[in-house]
Amino acid sequence: MGFQGIHAIEKYLNRIESFDKSKCCKHNAKNSTVRFTLGKTVHYEAYWGLKVAPFENVPDSKFYFPSQKHEEGLHRLLYGVEARKGAVLLTGEVGCGKTTLSRLFVQHLSQDRYDIALIANPSVDAQEFLGEVLYQLGVTATGSKLDRLHKLNEHLLDNLRRKKETIVLIDEAQTVKDDVVFEELRLLLNFQLNDQFLLTLILLGQPELNARINAIEPFAQRVAIRFHLTAFDLQETIRYIEFRLKVAGGDQRPIFSSEAIEALFQSSKGVPRVINTLADLSLLSGFLEKKAQVDAAVVTRIIADHTLGG
Ligand SMILES: Nc1ncnc2c1ncn2[C@@H]1O[C@H](COP(=O)(O)OP(=O)(O)OP(=O)(O)O)[C@@H](O)[C@H]1O
Ligand SMILES: [Mg+2]
Repeated sequence: MGFQGIHAIEKYLNRIESFDKSKCCKHNAKNSTVRFTLGKTVHYEAYWGLKVAPFENVPDSKFYFPSQKHEEGLHRLLYGVEARKGAVLLTGEVGCGKTTLSRLFVQHLSQDRYDIALIANPSVDAQEFLGEVLYQLGVTATGSKLDRLHKLNEHLLDNLRRKKETIVLIDEAQTVKDDVVFEELRLLLNFQLNDQFLLTLILLGQPELNARINAIEPFAQRVAIRFHLTAFDLQETIRYIEFRLKVAGGDQRPIFSSEAIEALFQSSKGVPRVINTLADLSLLSGFLEKKAQVDAAVVTRIIADHTLGG
């Protein structure tokens, strides 16, 4: 199959978001041809001297790159919990690492000392929301709302007696449909003993979450810590790419030329999720073309396909 054919298939795959490209083609290293076999997995890793795929879009803490921004965000979350600050708000541009940070944050907290309700899909109504918080904390409660709030209060006091901190962490908080849910959250902060909060509320979400919370003055005033996560700059993008290649088992050879990284940065605007997608496809393309290095030409073509496909 000629390069045009391969290129056409890549383009096609780019356009079908849900299609797992890794399952559709296979490189035959012996005779340097590329065979496309449905159901077989293509491995570009070995070609680039890597042990595992370096740019998977999953919040895997093994691949966590401790950029200054991410570290600051993480430490604000930890500080918010340790200093019992009540509510912490972490916003950030789409795909910049909020969920990744939250996973890492939870891993930092020992299960003996922390009781964590992790709510990843908060787009439910207010009644269901309280139910979800209770469920995540392992509290069985039925009956009226007041009954359920009493149960929650008992659980929080129990945790206090057992020297356990209670945390309610809500990811994707911008998807909360009804502001009544924010009202419910504010009520959760009213659980206090001797002016001490009985739980820490952590909200993660896209930038519009800020405006929604600011519009609810009594809630906004209770948010003691805020942090906004932004995309990487060029230097961070360079280090991010190098870091992930190293974690993937890379042998330090410069797989991407500096021009290729510059092009990745320009197109992704330093957003890690986009860097991952483009870098992964560039590695695949460079491998199929048997390049010694992923150069700017490869990346530029991937970007063009991606823009067309998107
Ligand atoms: N500091 C980091 N180190 C390593 N990988 C990262 C980092 N930040 C982000 N990523 C990568 O970028 C991908 C997207 O990040 P994540 O899902 O955490 O973003 P998000 O801010 O939660 O996005 P959304 O706004 O869509 O919820 C992750 O799957 C991860 O692979
Ligand atoms: Mg997320």
